[in-house]
Amino acid sequence: MRVHVADHPLIAHKLTYLRDKRTDSPTFRRLAEELMTLLAYEATREVRVEPFEIETPVAPTTGIKLSNPKPLIVPILRAGLGMLEGMVRLLPSAEVGFLGMQRDEETLAITTYASRLPEDLTGRQVYVLDPMLATGGSMGDAIQFLVDRGASNITAVCLLAAPEGIATLQARLADIDPPVTLVTGSIDEKLNEHGYIVPGLGDAGDRLYGVV
Ligand code: URA
Repeated sequence: MRVHVADHPLIAHKLTYLRDKRTDSPTFRRLAEELMTLLAYEATREVRVEPFEIETPVAPTTGIKLSNPKPLIVPILRAGLGMLEGMVRLLPSAEVGFLGMQRDEETLAITTYASRLPEDLTGRQVYVLDPMLATGGSMGDAIQFLVDRGASNITAVCLLAAPEGIATLQARLADIDPPVTLVTGSIDEKLNEHGYIVPGLGDAGDRLYGVV
């Protein structure tokens, strides 16, 4: 797995306000979306494109457009939904699939409770969105699910990552070729005994959508 920490002052600035516990839910949602757009710029460096001819008012020239099949964006429900708008803003013609995953707060075990994805993902370029890479369990399961359906080029995008989650994914995804790329705004210090990222930003789903 290739890991890319998007190191930019605007990303660090927005992350700071996301981390601050005084930031209210509407502001948190806006910042998560804006931060995702900045991460999307980094995450799409290798998006597949092809040349096509256009004419400017002055002369013909060759431009580029997204190749078919269009990229697939997969937010992991529910917190990944908070990143979706920020991503489709940069890739409006992408398709969107959904994976619902939940972790048991006591055992930290992951279950998949919903999926809405094409059966066949052969050759598809896929962007998986989940704000917090904590234990790496749900992201690992999501990526395995996509690989089993044939996805061949996967980029995982997280606002924050824990070193433990990155190590777990590195070991679990070592044989995937081409390697999965992880793009994150920060690698934080550690996971605590409850599976929260430290210093982190708390429960991303709750801060986006409330405790429901
Ligand atoms: N999920 C979250 O929302 N926050 C964490 O810190 C870890 C997992």
